[in-house]
Amino acid sequence: MDLQLAGKRVLVTGASKGIGLAIVRAYLAEGASVTAVSRRRTGELDATGATFVSADLSVPDGPRRAVETVLAADPRLDVLVNNAGGGTVPDGALEDSLDGADVDWAATFALNLGAAVETTRAALPALVEARGAIVNISSDTARRPLGVPLHYAAAKAALNAFSRGLAEKVAGVGVRVNVVTPSGTRTDLMEGADGYVAQVAAHLGIGHADLLAALPAQSGMVTGRLIEPDEIARAVLLLSSPTMPSAIGSNWAVDAGALKTA
Ligand SMILES: NC(=O)c1ccc[n+]([C@@H]2O[C@H](COP(=O)([O-])OP(=O)(O)OC[C@H]3O[C@@H](n4cnc5c(N)ncnc54)[C@H](OP(=O)(O)O)[C@@H]3O)[C@@H](O)[C@H]2O)c1
Repeated sequence: MDLQLAGKRVLVTGASKGIGLAIVRAYLAEGASVTAVSRRRTGELDATGATFVSADLSVPDGPRRAVETVLAADPRLDVLVNNAGGGTVPDGALEDSLDGADVDWAATFALNLGAAVETTRAALPALVEARGAIVNISSDTARRPLGVPLHYAAAKAALNAFSRGLAEKVAGVGVRVNVVTPSGTRTDLMEGADGYVAQVAAHLGIGHADLLAALPAQSGMVTGRLIEPDEIARAVLLLSSPTMPSAIGSNWAVDAGALKTA
């Protein structure tokens, strides 16, 4: 299937590893030209040959400056993938009914909502010019706020609302906005020694590997195993493809059946 992505200019945030890195590789394999944004570069990202721009997207003006740098090199942009997100569990958060202090809520919203809003604001004129596409990476926890910090679930729910509303507003100027919703996916967020699952395991006093093994079933993932980042990437590519002009405002769950709603 030709997704007609060859030659397209693509910007992927949170691209140094995990799902973002898989998305970068997938666009490059289709012949697109990719700029990858994250705070640090990695050997795996360098090996892809993608252009790298370093930016902290959770600080004021970080997204605007990053997009300006990208567009200064090439003012044309066809696809924006707002993937940067996640976070860690703040100290003491798991003992608190609200899962952390106001400062923790602000930090999580800055990364999981604010970064997408501000990056989109800065990139939108170029995307309008190209009649392009935006894909935002959400989480199943937005629709099932269990077992993760409330601020993370709430920020992703806000990202869903932002995406759906924006899809309606910019469809008329030719920009399509869609969301991909992963459930537990095999990245550092799950498997890393400092990742979210390792932190929760330490809090519960159980082994990281044991919690990781139980997580798919506990999350209702009927495959019994974590999702591969490549699977998320394929959904992103399809939704951003010019061959899908009617994909507007959709939210595609690649979740191994974790969300039990029709
Ligand atoms: N893995 C899962 O199970 C899962 C499930 C549902 C949804 N998601 C969502 O999928 C997306 C990708 O998650 P992942 O699992 O691939 O996470 P990951 O492996 O931790 O990678 C996160 C990426 O975001 C970048 N990043 C983090 N903070 C940043 C900041 N302030 N500014 C710029 N870049 C930043 C990281 O690079 P630097 O640290 O170098 O900046 C890295 O490239 C996130 O939005 C996450 O919420 C993941």
